[in-house]
Amino acid sequence: MSKATYNAEIAAKRWHAGNIYEIIIECEPLARESQAGQFLQVACGDDTFLRRPISIHNVDGSRVSMIFEVKGRGTRYLSQLKTGDCINVLGPLGNGFDTDIEGDVLLIGGGLGVFPLYMVAKAKGKSCDAVLGYKSARDLVSHDRFSAVCREVVITTDDGSYGIQGTAVAAAHSLVVNHHYKAICACGPLPMLKAVHALACKYNIPAWISLEERMACGFGVCLACAVKSADDDVDYLHVCKHGPVFNSKEVIL
Ligand SMILES: Cc1cc2nc3c(=O)[nH]c(=O)nc-3n(C[C@H](O)[C@H](O)[C@H](O)COP(=O)(O)OP(=O)(O)OC[C@H]3O[C@@H](n4cnc5c(N)ncnc54)[C@H](O)[C@@H]3O)c2cc1C
Ligand code: FES
Repeated sequence: MSKATYNAEIAAKRWHAGNIYEIIIECEPLARESQAGQFLQVACGDDTFLRRPISIHNVDGSRVSMIFEVKGRGTRYLSQLKTGDCINVLGPLGNGFDTDIEGDVLLIGGGLGVFPLYMVAKAKGKSCDAVLGYKSARDLVSHDRFSAVCREVVITTDDGSYGIQGTAVAAAHSLVVNHHYKAICACGPLPMLKAVHALACKYNIPAWISLEERMACGFGVCLACAVKSADDDVDYLHVCKHGPVFNSKEVIL
């Protein structure tokens, strides 16, 4: 798999909710190479030295989309770009989700972690269910896209303003006991991923989790994105190079 830098034109830009935006770029070679769960290192203007990692949300023909929340200077710059502007992206980077798993898969996404799962949902279609957790009804983004492709989509909100009140993993529990999932694919905050790992161990299902760490280079050179390895012979793994998607038993969360 090859990575490269591309100057890509923004074919569309959308505001979704709160501080959450989607940028869709036109870039045929990148679209051709991109896989579910991989990410791009996005240049965020002259004032931001380091590129910012953003997951690939979707590939549609020659277009690649990313959905991001404004957190600081880099993502604010991205949010201010317009259709027709150019951005420079490096990618696709990292190891993503295996979409060739035989049998049913359960997706568990929390907050911004919902977005990298969409290409798995598209690939697995009616062989996958999804539990998508948000803080509140006003934060719901992209759930309708999952509903269009998955067999069953369960929405949870922390405050109960939409769907089931509670966490995505709590809701996933009842799906797990009633189905024979071959794998769980998850992305979200660390406490959620720890709960996914515990659920997967309890029911003996392999769990593939997408981790986030602060990054600099994005391809294994600077060693900024280390996570502890669960293998006694290996001290650290690097999220950008060995991940961002890991088997939950490979890492110490
Ligand atoms: C592999 C990967 C994929 C990602 N995919 C997405 C995505 O699809 N959509 C999205 O909205 N965000 C995603 N992120 C997070 C995104 O990279 C950060 O929000 C972004 O780099 C913040 O840059 P900034 O300049 O706007 O904010 P900064 O000024 O750099 O930081 C603002 C605040 O955000 C915190 N922060 C920055 N980066 C991270 C991080 N990696 N993890 C936790 N906290 C952080 C900082 O500590 C600070 O409090 C991803 C991160 C990784 C590592
Ligand atoms: S960000 Fe440089 S090694 Fe991962």
